[in-house]
Amino acid sequence: MGSHAEVDSSSTPESRWSLEGTTALVTGGTKGIGHAIVEELARFGAAVHTCSRNEAELNKCMHEWEKKGFRVTGSVCDVTSPSDRQKLITSTVSSLFDGKLNILINNVGTNKIKPTTEYKAEDFSLIMSTNFESAYHLSQLSHPLLKASSAGSIVFISSTCGVVSINVGSIYSATKGAMNQLTKNLACEWAKDNIRTNCVAPSFTTTSLAEPISCSWHVAACVVVFY
Ligand SMILES: NC(=O)c1ccc[n+]([C@@H]2O[C@H](COP(=O)([O-])OP(=O)(O)OC[C@H]3O[C@@H](n4cnc5c(N)ncnc54)[C@H](OP(=O)(O)O)[C@@H]3O)[C@@H](O)[C@H]2O)c1
Repeated sequence: MGSHAEVDSSSTPESRWSLEGTTALVTGGTKGIGHAIVEELARFGAAVHTCSRNEAELNKCMHEWEKKGFRVTGSVCDVTSPSDRQKLITSTVSSLFDGKLNILINNVGTNKIKPTTEYKAEDFSLIMSTNFESAYHLSQLSHPLLKASSAGSIVFISSTCGVVSINVGSIYSATKGAMNQLTKNLACEWAKDNIRTNCVAPSFTTTSLAEPISCSWHVAACVVVFY
């Protein structure tokens, strides 16, 4: 027998990889990076649920996904609300996917660019709850479902700003730094439950969130942390 497996060079990525039979939750899937993740997972055969705050936009996306033949459902959820988060996981996702979830993508994020001395308490609380508290709580709530799948995976969408300073947006950067550390903690703590935890840290990507800050963004590297 040869030392490495033979790969059929005529095969496509879709025919070599499959997520058929798996389930995924992507937060904030109606725009930007989350939208692209929903489509990629669905293209590989996963049944995907996504959420955002805007029902009309969710319905528009689901209509387009249906036309493409993707299995995607959606519900309104403001991830800054603890009761919305609870309902999303313990009611909606749990009943849709029979109490099992393979993939949780903590994607929702927001930012407000100001010098540190000008941030108000409400800026701190909005950015912290949207970017970090929501991802932390959704991971906690999803733990029983991820464990029940016997092959769970959490992916946090972080940022290069969580690794280096870009000189603005100190609250945003702190949320992403916290997320990077949480990735390491959960990767170690939940490995015994067959749950992998990874963090992807994109650099500048043209989306609605990135547009207002494009002129002040100088970091070119993309960091991916795998555990
Ligand atoms: N774009 C970049 O350059 C860049 C770089 C590094 C990291 N990232 C990270 O990548 C992730 C996605 O960013 P993006 O640029 O794709 O953002 P985006 O285009 O603004 O999309 C954000 C998505 O999240 C939803 N959302 C926002 N706040 C929400 C809330 N409180 N509850 C529920 N849904 C909410 C939005 O829908 P609604 O507004 O309708 O709720 C939308 O679907 C973020 O974590 C961001 O920090 C982005």
